[in-house]
Amino acid sequence: MTIRQWLETARQRLNGRQDEPALSARLLTAHHLNKDRAWIIAHNHDPLPADLIPALEADLDRLVRGVPLPYVLGAWEFYGLSFQVNESVLIPRPETELLVETALNWVKQHPGPLRAADVGTGSGCIAAALARHAPQMHITAVDISLQALRVAKQNFIQLNVAGQVSALQSDLLSSLSGPFDLLCANLPYIPSAKLPHLDVTTHEPSLALDGGPDGLVLVQELLLQARSRMADRFLILLEVEADHGQAAPELACQIFPQANTTMLRDLAGLPRLVSIKFE
Ligand SMILES: C[S@@+](CC[C@H](N)C(=O)[O-])C[C@H]1O[C@@H](n2cnc3c(N)ncnc32)[C@H](O)[C@@H]1O
Repeated sequence: MTIRQWLETARQRLNGRQDEPALSARLLTAHHLNKDRAWIIAHNHDPLPADLIPALEADLDRLVRGVPLPYVLGAWEFYGLSFQVNESVLIPRPETELLVETALNWVKQHPGPLRAADVGTGSGCIAAALARHAPQMHITAVDISLQALRVAKQNFIQLNVAGQVSALQSDLLSSLSGPFDLLCANLPYIPSAKLPHLDVTTHEPSLALDGGPDGLVLVQELLLQARSRMADRFLILLEVEADHGQAAPELACQIFPQANTTMLRDLAGLPRLVSIKFE
C-alpha cells in the first residue's frame, strides 16, 4: 500500500468523526513516519512501511472513536512551541495566544525583572510561552491538579524554561503570597449546566472546564485573592467565555475599582480577554 492509498482509507474512516479528516490523517501518518506534512505530500507514492501499520491502525481507531487528535499524537502546538499533552490537561487553544501576546506587549513596556503567576497552568502552555519570550521574568505556574502539573513540569523541562518557572499545586493563589507584576489565568469558565451538552467534556478533563453555576466562580475568587497579592503596578489578564463579555469586566471593576479594565477581542471578534491594568 502507498502512503497515498493509506491516507485515502484513513480519510474516509475519519469522515464525520474528526473536524478535518484529511488533515488528521496526514498529521497522524507524519507523526508515525517521524516526518513533517510537506514530506508526506512530496512522498505520497512511496510505500507505507508495513511495520508501521498496526500502530497506525490502532491510533486511527482512537480517532474514529472521537479522541481528539492532540491526545492521540501526545503533542500539540501553541505559540510556535510543541507541548506534550494527555487527557489530564486541556488541549492548548489558539484563542489563548491572545493572552500571551497581550502579556508580552506589556512586558516589553516594563523592562527589568518581573514576577508573574499563571493560575490553572494545565499543560503549562501560557507559562512556557511567556518564559521563552521574556527571559527576565520569573513565573509561578500553579494548578490544583497534580496530574496536570506533572505534564506542565515535563513541558518546562523539554522547552528549557524549568529554571525560570516554578510549578506547584495550589488552589488558585491560596499557597502564594506574591507580589506579582503580572497575573495570567485561563480558568475553567463553562457554566456547569452547559457542560453535559458539550462534546468537549467527553475527552477533556471537567476540572479544566467547569466554571461553577455561572461560569465565573473561580474568576471571582481569583480576583478577590489577587487584591492582596499584586505589585504597585500590575497587569491581570483573564481569558473568559464570550458570553461573559459584560459580566466579567463588571466583576473586575467592582473588585479593582482603581484599575483600568478593558475587554479584548479574539480573532473571531469575540470578547475573550479581560485586561485589568494599574500603572
Ligand atoms: C481551562 S484549563 C487551562 C489550561 C491552560 N492554562 C491553557 O490555557 O490551556 C484550566 C486549568 O485550571 C485548573 N484549575 C481548576 N480549578 C483550579 C483551582 N481552583 N486552582 C488552580 N487551578 C485550577 C485545571 O486543572 C486546568 O488545568
